[in-house]
Amino acid sequence: MKRIAVLTSGGDAPGMNVAIRAVVRTGLDKGWDVFGVRYGYVGLIADNMVPLGARDVGGIIHQGGTVLQSSRCPEFMTEEGRLKALRTLNQHEIDALVVIGGNGSQAGAHALSQMDYPVIGVASTIDNDLYGSEISLGVDTALNIALEAIDRLKVTASSHERAFLVEVMGRDCGYLALMSGIAGGAETIIVPEIETDPETVAEQLRDAYRRGKTHALIVVAEGAHYNANRLAHFFEEHFGRLGFEMRVTVLGHTQRGGIPSAFDRLLGTRLAAAATDLLAQGEHGILMGLVKDEIVATPLTEVVANKKQLDPYLMKLAKVLAK
Ligand code: F6P
Repeated sequence: MKRIAVLTSGGDAPGMNVAIRAVVRTGLDKGWDVFGVRYGYVGLIADNMVPLGARDVGGIIHQGGTVLQSSRCPEFMTEEGRLKALRTLNQHEIDALVVIGGNGSQAGAHALSQMDYPVIGVASTIDNDLYGSEISLGVDTALNIALEAIDRLKVTASSHERAFLVEVMGRDCGYLALMSGIAGGAETIIVPEIETDPETVAEQLRDAYRRGKTHALIVVAEGAHYNANRLAHFFEEHFGRLGFEMRVTVLGHTQRGGIPSAFDRLLGTRLAAAATDLLAQGEHGILMGLVKDEIVATPLTEVVANKKQLDPYLMKLAKVLAK
């Protein structure tokens, strides 16, 4: 191993810069040359690569986003696109690639590794939907951002005895909603994994007021069938019967833009350092993730073949705690 490249792909996540920094500095420490690919797979296809030295990754540990930039790249889903990417890697005599990203990015990493190119993934997505890592890089920061918003909304909800709907990101996964809902003391949590009937939601809110609550807070995942807009619309349409007006806050991309938490800085550093260590040992075709507080390598074939599940115990617990 002499030359490696690193890229960030898909939705950015707080802590990606930490991981880039650790790949570069641990790679240099091994005597390798390290290159950064700009704009994820788009840059790999377009041959957009820069050499990275230790100083190039200085002062970024506390910055959200990714200094390498990121993108979504439909062309990489085609064989033609991947062949172009391989050509770039071969032209620059790059021996291995580190891919920092979530589900789509690791599916791309898997496809490259199926073409016999050495790739290692670093689990990074705020959605926390990536099999092979209990917590992906960026999740902790995103959760804390959602939580701060929920705490603030609860204050104003209580002052006016209002019902609030807060929509969090997560694509098709309810993890962010479930965890921020539990940590924020939500009355109801709505996730895509469990079908939710708006009449039941209305009943839960009525019940919360009957039990003497001064606010009603619903945390809903963006991927749920009844997302914030649909629910609000339902409550508006049936206002006469249900008697609730909903205030809606969609947190959206604010959850992606945060300063990485201490947890994410340490996680990103550990995941990336383990990636270069394993590359040095000749390992590849794997994803670095956190399992039971250990950095664990899972074959990319396993990562792409499995769907991460929400913890049913926590779903039940959330209901008990909302009483
Ligand atoms: O995968 C991360 C994520 O933020 C999802 O939670 C969200 O659905 C999606 O990306 C938004 O993608 P984009 O930034 O491309 O609009």
